[in-house]
Amino acid sequence: MMHNIDINQMNRLMEENKEAKQIISQLLENHQETVSTIAHEIRNPLTLVSSALQIIQVQHPEVKEFAHWNQTMDDIAFMRQLLEELSTFNNGNTLHYSVFSIEHLLKNIAVSFAISLDEEESDIEFVSSIPENLGKFTGDKIKLEEVLLNLLKNAKEAVSDNGMIRLTVGRKKDILSIQVQDNGCGIPDEHIETIFEPFKTYKQGGTGLGLSLSRRIVEAHGGSISVTSTEGKGTVFTVKLPI
Ligand SMILES: Nc1ncnc2c1ncn2[C@@H]1O[C@H](COP(=O)(O)OP(=O)(O)O)[C@@H](O)[C@H]1O
Ligand SMILES: [Mg+2]
Repeated sequence: MMHNIDINQMNRLMEENKEAKQIISQLLENHQETVSTIAHEIRNPLTLVSSALQIIQVQHPEVKEFAHWNQTMDDIAFMRQLLEELSTFNNGNTLHYSVFSIEHLLKNIAVSFAISLDEEESDIEFVSSIPENLGKFTGDKIKLEEVLLNLLKNAKEAVSDNGMIRLTVGRKKDILSIQVQDNGCGIPDEHIETIFEPFKTYKQGGTGLGLSLSRRIVEAHGGSISVTSTEGKGTVFTVKLPI
């Protein structure tokens, strides 16, 4: 996996030398295509295996009593999720632009998140503050939704009893600021430097792709994502986007 420093070096090379730019761009394109193809090729048979196991479970409910059955089902669900996230991650910086109301998008996300908490009969308190007239935004609606859902999902996974999650949106001149705040477990200082790296996860069953994908998407929009956190107290992620 490339680190920031390598990416900066690569960008400098590409700026300095037209030929290098062409070759590196081609290599990156090939690399992305290879990852997509591999993810796709594994996903297909895995979906078949998963469907077959589900049919077996319906026809023979007694299999649930077998040792390792539930673990196997969970492992397969995890692999499918990983491949899904890998494929989205891979396409994270290819944006499909449209012009839309950011206020509507954020309100829809807040409503569906609130509904999902309700359906899970969760005790987490969720508050959102999204002002009106935020204006039109030009960007990739689906990918921005992905970013917000990732941040809200992480917040949900971080809080426990008396959990509180807050989504706050504001606009100052041409900068839209979106904050996702929680009063969950927080992030230890020794982890905070690495949480945006791909595959870096500190939770069981995590893929470690959510934040690196989110950062990719936000930066592809010319924005930034930052975090402040206190262990045991909570975390705030701030996304800033030029509007
Ligand atoms: N709101 C949060 N509170 C505490 N820790 C967080 C929060 N969001 C992210 N993290 C930390 O950052 C890591 C990386 O997050 P992410 O990239 O979404 O991967 P994953 O959720 O699959 O672990 C998590 O494993 C967790 O340790
Ligand atoms: Mg996550």
